[in-house]
Amino acid sequence: MKILVTGGTGYIGSHTIVELLEAGHDVVALDNLSNSSELVLERIKMITGKQVKFYKADIRNKAALEKVFKNENIEAVIHFAGLKAVGESVAKPWMYYENNITGTLTLLGVMTKYNVKNIIFSSSATVYGNPAFVPITEECPKGMCSNPYGWTKWMLEQIMADMQAADKEWNVVLLRYFNPIGAHPSGLIGEEPNGIPNNLMPYITQVAVGKREELGVFGNDYKTHDGTGVRDYIHVVDLAKGHLLALKKLKKGSGLSVYNLGTGKGYSVLDVVTNFEKANKIKIPYSIKPRRAGDIDTCYASADKAKKELGWKAKYDIKRMCKDSWNWQSNNPNGFSGK
Ligand code: NAD
Ligand code: UD1
Repeated sequence: MKILVTGGTGYIGSHTIVELLEAGHDVVALDNLSNSSELVLERIKMITGKQVKFYKADIRNKAALEKVFKNENIEAVIHFAGLKAVGESVAKPWMYYENNITGTLTLLGVMTKYNVKNIIFSSSATVYGNPAFVPITEECPKGMCSNPYGWTKWMLEQIMADMQAADKEWNVVLLRYFNPIGAHPSGLIGEEPNGIPNNLMPYITQVAVGKREELGVFGNDYKTHDGTGVRDYIHVVDLAKGHLLALKKLKKGSGLSVYNLGTGKGYSVLDVVTNFEKANKIKIPYSIKPRRAGDIDTCYASADKAKKELGWKAKYDIKRMCKDSWNWQSNNPNGFSGK
């Protein structure tokens, strides 16, 4: 299939492109490079031996999108493009709503015009808010999000569901990711956060590489086995493979389908630290800090629906996630450019 991957040079997009190419799909990547580097494409070529066609373009730019759909015979879109920093979204809500919502509406409009009505969308476990129950199944009601980033996912899910309800030619797969970490086993691609990392694993790897002194653990008074927050960490390669199986579903006519992509296992912050230390034989100094606003006690998936309907199951365990995160960080202490 010929697939347009928006946000293709980003963390999850790049890993998904590798899997798509290795499965024999034809890929066109699009990104405005606001949070990624074009150098990723060289790394993808090193891994797969294939050169991806790339458009440096913004999803809010209708003319630029039209050019892509006119030039390429796109059959489906995997839509990763979007801003994702939770704290920044609280400080700059308009920027988040404008980029993520206007951008996606523009993309959906152009897709409609060119009669490409197959889309896989990157949603997030954040749409469950403080979940009504765990493990979280897809039937768990969507909750109140604690930040504008989360609301963009919440609203975009609704927009795509409404469009699919009105026009059954649409096939929409909403994938709710839990906490992606890890990197490609080659160590050639991985996550390159901008500035001080907000998320746990990139912070840990930056402590390990000597860029940060110690990890701050946000709260040890949660209702969990050791008081620190519990999450469902998933290897980014497993996540990427989930998109391949979602594509198969799309091809068969998915209608509107929603899947959690998680492992079904929850690990606390201190569990992750211990696993990282054991897997890589590196000590991670940490201290307990106050809770971070908007954080919840526990969040982990039931991944049964994806297993049953897509035949997808996460393969990599937490040790492997820690190993691959460190392999990427230690081989690329200064990211893709090396500077
Ligand atoms: P990322 O920032 O690495 O990738 C997103 C890419 O989109 C970046 O390369 C960025 O330059 C591009 N982009 C942003 N706005 C754009 C625009 N207007 N036009 C064109 N390109 C644009 O993030 P990621 O971790 O790879 O996440 C991919 C998707 O998955 C995002 O939609 C994110 O919200 C979602 N998601 C991520 C996580 C996570 O923990 N990483 C969890 C749940 C959902
Ligand atoms: C966060 C976002 C979520 C987003 C996801 C991936 C919130 C409320 N949620 O999820 O919307 O989809 O990132 O981008 O922000 N922690 C520390 N110290 C750190 C960093 C994190 O103790 O320096 C703890 C957190 O308190 C949490 C766990 O580690 O308990 C995981 O945090 P993080 O990696 O930021 O992911 P989430 O908060 O689950």
